[in-house]
Amino acid sequence: MKILKREFKRRIDVHASVVWWNYWDIEHFTTVHKAYTNVKMLFENENMYIVALTWRLPIFSFFKSSGICTTIKTGKYKLEDYQSTFFNIAVKTEIEIEEIGEMSSLIISRYQFFLHGWRRILAPFMYKMMAVWNQKVWDEDLPLKIRRQRVKEFGFKDFKGLPDKLEDRESIKKWEQSLPVPRPKNSPINEYL
Ligand SMILES: [Fe+2]
Repeated sequence: MKILKREFKRRIDVHASVVWWNYWDIEHFTTVHKAYTNVKMLFENENMYIVALTWRLPIFSFFKSSGICTTIKTGKYKLEDYQSTFFNIAVKTEIEIEEIGEMSSLIISRYQFFLHGWRRILAPFMYKMMAVWNQKVWDEDLPLKIRRQRVKEFGFKDFKGLPDKLEDRESIKKWEQSLPVPRPKNSPINEYL
């Protein structure tokens, strides 16, 4: 058995809670990321969620993989997720968001692929594939995080919008992000609930 490990570090000038929101906002998976074709919530609470997920590889995109993904909060801005991917390869992902300034964050992504038997020959391909995957997902998420940061600076709240009074938009700033991230009752993500 071979464990293939890959780590990426990226910096962004938004509050850590905005990055955190992005990881737990399930609704954007299929609308923003080209790789995810179907996501259905099976279970969620304030510390974890389990989804049924279908996605494509960034290289050889005709390759589709379906399975269950479990994501667990392991710290204030830390999560781990576990899923099995194509050829029944188990994957563990760790995400850690470090606050490196009031409005700046460092995101560390660590991937581990558990390659059994003949699957070990996939290691060089998967090593390269993870870089493509990480870059693609990063690029697709970037405008979301920048826009969220901007409206949060003006006091935006989910399902409430911006404060009515202009002067309040300058003073109200709440940077906490509670879980689960709220979504409409008729969201397609809720189909299995
Ligand atoms: Fe995303």
